[in-house]
Amino acid sequence: MYKIPVIPGDGIGPEIINEGRKVIEAVAEVEGFDVEWIPYDIGADRYLKSGQLISEDELKELGQYKAIYLGSLGDPRVEPGILELGILLKLRFYFDQYVNLRPIKLLEGVWTPIKDKGPEEIDFVVVRENTEDFYIGIGDRFKGRNSKVQLELLRELYQVRFDLDIETSSEEIAYQIGVISKEGAERVIDYAFSLAARKGMERVTGVDKANVLSQMYGLWRDVFLDVAARYPSIETEFNFVDATTMWFVKNPEWYRVVVAPNLFGDIITDLGAMIQGGLGLAPGGNINPDGTSMFEPIHGSAPKYAGKNVVNPIATIWAGAMLIEQLGEVRAAERIITGIKDVLKEGKVRTYDLGGNSKTSEVGDEIVRKILGGVN
Ligand code: IPM
Ligand code: MN
Repeated sequence: MYKIPVIPGDGIGPEIINEGRKVIEAVAEVEGFDVEWIPYDIGADRYLKSGQLISEDELKELGQYKAIYLGSLGDPRVEPGILELGILLKLRFYFDQYVNLRPIKLLEGVWTPIKDKGPEEIDFVVVRENTEDFYIGIGDRFKGRNSKVQLELLRELYQVRFDLDIETSSEEIAYQIGVISKEGAERVIDYAFSLAARKGMERVTGVDKANVLSQMYGLWRDVFLDVAARYPSIETEFNFVDATTMWFVKNPEWYRVVVAPNLFGDIITDLGAMIQGGLGLAPGGNINPDGTSMFEPIHGSAPKYAGKNVVNPIATIWAGAMLIEQLGEVRAAERIITGIKDVLKEGKVRTYDLGGNSKTSEVGDEIVRKILGGVN
């Protein structure tokens, strides 16, 4: 018996999460375990009514479970950043979900915009650091006299770095800093290497921008090399993030496990989602291996499609597979992935983003049918 808290969230969240639940219930039946869902009404509606984002009590309660199932957050009635920071990032940080695991895998029958590449070539995983870097976001905006004071403080640092004088008369300035800690880098890089070792993947690529942000990513590289030394049979390399975006398109087959700091990991996984067939097919897991993890599609709440039963639920269903794998139900997770693969390969039931006109719920139903039909 697994108790799983579920946050359907905003926009299309409730529709896609319904399909995910349906599919997990189907594999639970096949594998002989029970699931009890514990719904949480966290999101824009409640925020607009009561001003509550997520309460300390809710966080404490959620902390009793191994894995949370999340739909999507975001609403045009709420200023950008409020729900993201107050709910999504709050959950990731509160539960110290330091790994954001994002498989980039093109499944058979799915179109990729990359010419001459197929499922053989597009099959890797991005391990995104999920609690540090520029997501710390400490900083401020300074106007008028305050701006001048801040610039005076920065002048000397700037001079040491560039041997140039900084302009000190700006009307308004802003800065936000990023932080990489040795421990923070170590745990996520080690996760990437141990994943590679466990899955027999021969290479780990570290992503950074150490040629410019040499302090933060210099530390990141030092830690990477220390960790790599513990895994002598795994090949390693560094990629600058700009070059990574180029290589993801040109030679995706090169990659196995890619480990990236938070912000670069965010950016390259949207690109990854595109090459695997679109955001409708891209799942993610926010993982704390010793605590409470959280699984979600990497796309947003797509408000303009909300309530229409047309969006692709596969990213969420796939995230559900990652969730039950995290709970230890590896065979059940495999059954979900096989169900997704069968439906995509057959190509009869697919949503508009994949060139079809099936409904959200029809995709979930069809995956359930494959799962139940595949039992013998
Ligand atoms: C993601 C999203 C979030 C992020 C936003 C919504 C805060 O883009 O999960 O990739 O930047 O991590
Ligand atoms: Mn993102």
